[in-house]
Amino acid sequence: MTALTLSTAGAATLRADAVVVGVAKGAKGPVVAPGAEAVEKAFDGKLADVLATLGATGGEGEATKLPSPAGLKAPLVLAVGLGAVPDEGDAYAEEALRRAAGVAARTLAGAKKAAFALPVEAAEDVQAVGEGALLGSYAFTAFQERGKDAKGPLGEAAVLGAKPRDKAHKAAAERAVAVAEEINRARDLVNTPPNELNPAAFAAVATAAGKEHGIKVQVLDEKALTKGGYGGIVGVGVGSDAPPRLVKLSYTHADAEKSLAFVGKGITYDSGGISLKPAGHNETMKCDMAGAAAVFAAVVSAARLGLRVNVTGWLALAENMPSGSATRPGDVLRMYSGKTVEVLNTDAEGRLVLADALAKASEEDPDAIVDVATLTGAMVLALGNRTFGIMANDDAFRTSLHEIAEEVGEPSWPMPLPSDLRKGMDSPTADIANMGERMGGGLVAGLFLKEFVGEGITWAHLDIAGPAFNEAGPFGYTPKGGTGSAIRTLVRLAERTADGDLG
Ligand code: BES
Ligand code: MN
Ligand code: ZN
Repeated sequence: MTALTLSTAGAATLRADAVVVGVAKGAKGPVVAPGAEAVEKAFDGKLADVLATLGATGGEGEATKLPSPAGLKAPLVLAVGLGAVPDEGDAYAEEALRRAAGVAARTLAGAKKAAFALPVEAAEDVQAVGEGALLGSYAFTAFQERGKDAKGPLGEAAVLGAKPRDKAHKAAAERAVAVAEEINRARDLVNTPPNELNPAAFAAVATAAGKEHGIKVQVLDEKALTKGGYGGIVGVGVGSDAPPRLVKLSYTHADAEKSLAFVGKGITYDSGGISLKPAGHNETMKCDMAGAAAVFAAVVSAARLGLRVNVTGWLALAENMPSGSATRPGDVLRMYSGKTVEVLNTDAEGRLVLADALAKASEEDPDAIVDVATLTGAMVLALGNRTFGIMANDDAFRTSLHEIAEEVGEPSWPMPLPSDLRKGMDSPTADIANMGERMGGGLVAGLFLKEFVGEGITWAHLDIAGPAFNEAGPFGYTPKGGTGSAIRTLVRLAERTADGDLG
């Protein structure tokens, strides 16, 4: 991965392939952001004019390359858009910095070193620029023969204006590296084709990472799941030749006062099962384990950051396939909680594996449970491809999560769990059916999950079906394919819980 360094060197004197400056959208044209004074000087104070002439406006996503004038060590200046100039006295938003740094890192793929002369003041800004650079450099090339001329990622991102000896700045850079590495690892897992990443393979990755980071990992295989009564996970996985797993990751801190449980949907491939998805709807369904990848990354991040909170991750892993042994529409499953579920549609499988994991996680009575899942197409219809939905059995917790997501730059929106939608899941045969009314399908799925959360436990559900996998072109620090959605939100929740900032 790209190396992240902090440097006190001036933008004019640092030896690098390029120096990155920020440009914002002012009322009268592009405005060069603070941090780039030395570069402006080398341009005789005319950098903004040159940029305007080149058509730059300072808009988000813009990248303008200019050859360096005499006086700059780096041969290239790259101006990246920051969006609107902040109000008088306000700093640039962290997310604007993160995205601009991401654009720069993507544009500079193949370069050895780039100096980032962006407007950083607080330690949080250092973290944002670091995260943007490291996330923007991501490329998934494991399955491509790298030709001689294929560009590798940017070698080193040097953040200028940060103070390498300042404890807070150093810690911010370390946080950026830890979280970005785990996000990139989650992206790799999501992008890995489903013939390679089946439940057992995912469990093996988790076991290895646990050893590396001092996290206890327990894996239940198909035998243990059957014996343990995990009817949901077994029922979804039983049609596949690659059997299911339930992975428990336990990160504990000796002085922790609070505990969190994260539960991830880990369908390594969702064909729909006997209720087979039509062509056009299954090509990207390797992404259906993005929730489990997010949970995995968040637990490892919490361990790497040494957060003073206990975090348990539950990865509900199964492959949803049609076969002679597959669960049929009409089958009734006896779930881990003891409830029975009539499977009306085998393509509503995520809620089945999650139900068992939620019930199991509840036994330990954590202070809160958050599940993360690519659960419904309905949520994508409602919120689009970049925003995840948040549902909860506690309004204050849902609001907190929404604020936390906003803080870390992850678009999200609170969604309700209207109780009138419950009756649509009434079953003549079982306690509940796995499908209800079509309208409000994302909320119906949330209501289903709610039934498997232990009495009195605070719970939230993040439906990341939209933002988990980017089928469009890259933007900001987000690549095509797996995005690592919801990881920063989970990590910030753990940080806040460790700091005692949440109930
Ligand atoms: N994995 C899908 C949801 C999904 C859709 C994720 C698009 C990412 C992008 C899920 O298992 C599913 O198939 N849900 C069904 C539920 C329905 C059968 C009640 C859906 O949303 O259509
Ligand atoms: Mn499905
Ligand atoms: Zn699915």
